[in-house]
Amino acid sequence: MTKRIRKAVFPVAGLGTRFLPATKSIPKEMLTVVDRPVLQHVVEEAREAGIEHFIFVTGRNKAVIEDHFDIAYELDDTLKKRGKLKELQALTADLPAAGAASFTRQQVPLGLGHAVWCAREIVGDEPFAVLLPDMVTMGWAQGRCLAQCVAAYEKHGGNIIAVEEVPPEETHQYGVVSIGKDFGHTFEITGMVEKPPHGTAPSNLIISGRYVLGPEIFPILEKREKGAGGEIQLTDGMKALARSQAFHGVRFDGKTYDCGAKLGFLAANVAFALADPELAHLLKTELKKILGTL
Ligand code: G1P
Repeated sequence: MTKRIRKAVFPVAGLGTRFLPATKSIPKEMLTVVDRPVLQHVVEEAREAGIEHFIFVTGRNKAVIEDHFDIAYELDDTLKKRGKLKELQALTADLPAAGAASFTRQQVPLGLGHAVWCAREIVGDEPFAVLLPDMVTMGWAQGRCLAQCVAAYEKHGGNIIAVEEVPPEETHQYGVVSIGKDFGHTFEITGMVEKPPHGTAPSNLIISGRYVLGPEIFPILEKREKGAGGEIQLTDGMKALARSQAFHGVRFDGKTYDCGAKLGFLAANVAFALADPELAHLLKTELKKILGTL
C-alpha cells in the first residue's frame, strides 16, 4: 500500500529574468495565462490530483503570491453587495482551505534542489509532490500531469518523474532521463542528468516539472552538493536517491507549455483561450485577421 500524496511543493523563488521588464515588480508566476496567474493553473492541477496542502517556497518580492491565495475580504464583500456572483465564485472557488497553504522562503538562490529542501520541515516524513510553476499542463481524459503521476505512484510506489519528448537539439536546456524496462505509459528510470551538453543526452525525454518523491530526498539535498551551473540540483539529489529507491517515468498524455520561455507562455495563452468556449470563436477570428496581414 502506498501512502496518500497530500502535500505539494511549489518552488516560486526564481527571479524571472527572461521576462524582464514585466517581472521587475511582479513575480513571473503571477503573469497570466488568459484569466488567471500561471501559478493558479498549477495549483488547480495539484488540487485535481488530490493535493490538500500547498507549500510555496518563495523569495523576496513574492509577497503578492501569498495575497493571491488568501481571502480578499473587502473585494468579496463588494462583489456580494453588487450581486456579481460569477466573479465572486471565480475568486473564491480555488482557494486553499484555512491552514492548508504554507509559505517559506528560500533565502539565497542556490538552486532547485535547495528550494525543495527548504520545504522539508513542512513536508515532514511523508511522500510529496513537486510542481514547477513554469510548466503549465493541459490534460485530456486521464487528467492533468500530476494526476497521472499520482496514479503511477499508486501503481509502482517509489518515486515518479513526469517526462516529455523534445527535439534532440533542446535537451541541453533540461534534465534528461535514461529508459530501462518500458511499460508504455510508464517506464523504469535507469539514469538522469541535468542539462547534458549538446549531443550527450541519454534520450530525448526531458524532466517536465512534476515529481512524486519520498522524504528520503531531504537528507541527500542537505549535503548541498553542487551540479550543473554551480547550483544544488534536484536532478542530482534524485540520482543519488535512485541508488536505493525505484524511480519511474510517466509519459504525460497531454500537453505541457514551458511558460518560463516567451514562446511557451504565448502558446499557453492561445491554447487555453481556444479551450475556453466563451473565447475560442472570437480569438480564432482575431488570429485569422492577424495571420492574414502577414
Ligand atoms: C528545472 C529542472 C530540470 C527540468 C526543468 C523543467 O530546470 O532542473 O531538470 O527539466 O526545470 O522546466 P530549470 O528550468 O530550473 O533550469
